[in-house]
Amino acid sequence: MTAPSFDEDALDFVYQSALSHEKAGRPQDAAAAWRECLAIDPDDHVGARLRLSALGLGEVPASAGEAYVTTLFDQQAEMFEDILVRQLGYDVPSRIADILSRLGHGLFGRALDLGCGTGLVGVALDGRVDEMLGVDLSENMIEIAFDSEAYDHLYIGEAVDFLDEFEEPEPFDLIVAADVLPYLGSLTPLFQAAAKRLGPDGLFVASTETFAGEGEPEAGFAVGRDHRFHHAERYVRREIEAAGLAALAFEPIIVRMQEGRPAPGHLIVARKMS
Ligand SMILES: C[S@@+](CC[C@H](N)C(=O)[O-])C[C@H]1O[C@@H](n2cnc3c(N)ncnc32)[C@H](O)[C@@H]1O
Repeated sequence: MTAPSFDEDALDFVYQSALSHEKAGRPQDAAAAWRECLAIDPDDHVGARLRLSALGLGEVPASAGEAYVTTLFDQQAEMFEDILVRQLGYDVPSRIADILSRLGHGLFGRALDLGCGTGLVGVALDGRVDEMLGVDLSENMIEIAFDSEAYDHLYIGEAVDFLDEFEEPEPFDLIVAADVLPYLGSLTPLFQAAAKRLGPDGLFVASTETFAGEGEPEAGFAVGRDHRFHHAERYVRREIEAAGLAALAFEPIIVRMQEGRPAPGHLIVARKMS
C-alpha cells in the first residue's frame, strides 16, 4: 500500500473542526476549515468541494471526485446493503428489473453495470443476461459484488475511463448506472461514452436524484444538503438527446429515505438511436 501524499493527522483534525462548525451553524468557519482540508489534500478524500458547494460557499464541482468516492464506499461497503436497502428503503435495482420487463426487454446478451457497488443490479437481473460485467471505484464494494456470483467479470476503475479505455470492442446491449449519477455532476462524459459503447438499439438505464428547487440551476445540477448531486430533469433530458439516445421512460421514483424524508428521483431508460 502506498503512503498517502498528505498529512492524515492534520487532515483529520481540520475535518473534525469543519464538521463541528457545520453542526454548530457556523457556515463561514466551516467553509474556512473545508478550504484548509483542500490545501492539505488537493485530491479531496473528505469531499470538501461538495461540502463548500452544499453550503453555497463554493463552486459546483463537475464530479464528487475519485478520492472521495473511493474512500466513502470503501468505508461503507460492509454496512452498505444493511443501511441503504434495509434501513433507507433503496430498491432501484429491482425497479430496473421491473421497468425493463414492462418495456418488453426480458433478456440481454452483454450488459455492463457502471458503479456496480455490492452487486445489487447484477442480482436483480440474474438469469436475464448472458454476460454481465461490473465496474466500480471501490475495491471493497467490488469484493462483495464478487461474492454475489452475479457477474462474469468485475473491474476496479472509474466508469467513464472504463467506457473510454476498455479494450474489448464488442458492444453492450445494456448499460446500467444505478444511483451513480448523484456522484457525477456533469453527465456529458458518461452519457456520451456510454452511447458509444452501446450496440444498435442498446439500452442505457440510470437513476438520478432530482433537483427540487425553483427553476434550473446554472450548471443543470446542484449539490444537495446530502452532499450528492441533484440533477434538473430538463438537463438530464438534454444530455440524453445530445448523446444520441432516445428516452423510452422517464419515471419519477423515490430513491430512498433521507433524514426521514423521501428523496425524489427519476428512473430513465433510453435507447441508442440508429
Ligand atoms: C450508491 S452506490 C450504488 C451501487 C449499485 N449501483 C446499486 O445500485 O446498489 C454508488 C456506487 O457507485 C460507485 N461510483 C460512484 N462514482 C463512480 C465512478 N465515477 N466510477 C465508478 N464507480 C463509481 C461507488 O463506488 C458506489 O459503489
